[in-house]
Amino acid sequence: MSRSVSFLANNKMQVLQSFPRKSILLAISLITIFVVLFRFYGDVPVDYYRNYAPGDAILPVKTNNETPQPGYFKAQPEWNWDVPDYASGWKGYARKPRNRDIVVLTASDGGGHNSAIPNVLERVLDDREKYCRKHGYTNLWLNTSRYDIGDAHRTWSKIPAVSEAFYLHPTAEWVWLLDTDIIIMTPEYDLVGEILGPDAIQRGLMRDTPILDGQLKNNPTHINTPKDFRVEDIDILITQDHQSVNTGSTFFRRSAFTRLLLEMMTDYTMLMGKEHVGAEQDAIKHLMLEHRLVRNHVGIYPQRKFNAYAQGGENMGYRDGDLLVHFAGCWVGGKCQEWFEEFWGKKGHTDVWKPKEQ
Ligand SMILES: *[C@@H]1O[C@H](CO)[C@@H](O)[C@H](O)[C@H]1NC(C)=O
Repeated sequence: MSRSVSFLANNKMQVLQSFPRKSILLAISLITIFVVLFRFYGDVPVDYYRNYAPGDAILPVKTNNETPQPGYFKAQPEWNWDVPDYASGWKGYARKPRNRDIVVLTASDGGGHNSAIPNVLERVLDDREKYCRKHGYTNLWLNTSRYDIGDAHRTWSKIPAVSEAFYLHPTAEWVWLLDTDIIIMTPEYDLVGEILGPDAIQRGLMRDTPILDGQLKNNPTHINTPKDFRVEDIDILITQDHQSVNTGSTFFRRSAFTRLLLEMMTDYTMLMGKEHVGAEQDAIKHLMLEHRLVRNHVGIYPQRKFNAYAQGGENMGYRDGDLLVHFAGCWVGGKCQEWFEEFWGKKGHTDVWKPKEQ
């Protein structure tokens, strides 16, 4: 017994001695470098990496788009969607999301003004599925007729859909709420590089720009977006047309602030149950005008970045290369179908069609 142990020990000594000194020095230096590296990166919370782990189960999400939800929407379990620790603090966080953690959400029942366009829901969903597959984003449709939102106008039901999207996709970091009357015109468009990544937000948001309230000329609010902002604080990305913010194309980031904002927007006594012409759009506008804290967390991009309209001048109307086109207000002149088909035929085009001003 003892002989074999000492034999093993001798053997080990021989192995160690047979190592050239250089390799031992090299090994020690490598270990030192790693120790130093990890000391410096120790500030990044473990959750940051954990959330990026490749082992996340990818199970098909169960959505029931056919039957109505039982009971009032605010009492549904999805309003209790969760937020990881690093996103629940006051100071926020900034990072590039993984593509699959971007949910492209179509919140619609195919009705309303859009039903003037034949098969509009099937067509845009199919198109968005292709866009998502190309980039690895997550495509999601939620039937908004299922939510019991009381007597509030139907367009409020986009907000419960955002909540449900975060709930159904627990790793979703950004939910892109996209109206049905929108066509993605540039399928190559990279959302992270152009819109969602910290660099994109830093260079792209409009600073010190007036928050419009639909009557700016007669009654200026003198309320502007921050002159300077922290990328870590930006939880909502939205655009304004000539009148006000427009929720047709809006990004929401999973964070405690976003959850609170969605809850405040759907406050039945103060906002949702009241007569608001612009419904959920008026709610976010109101909260921005009223609260600096909300302004600090809502980033406004130039309109054409992700909400170009079918018609309009250089700031508003679709131009070649824009990500998408939105047929907002097309029903006013009964032009929905005509405009939709015209743009649908030009999806992904590379020719000169609606050039920018030189
Ligand atoms: C949406 O939900 C409503 C209510 O549950 C249902 O009647 C309708 O058929 C659904 N729409 C679609 C397109 O599945």
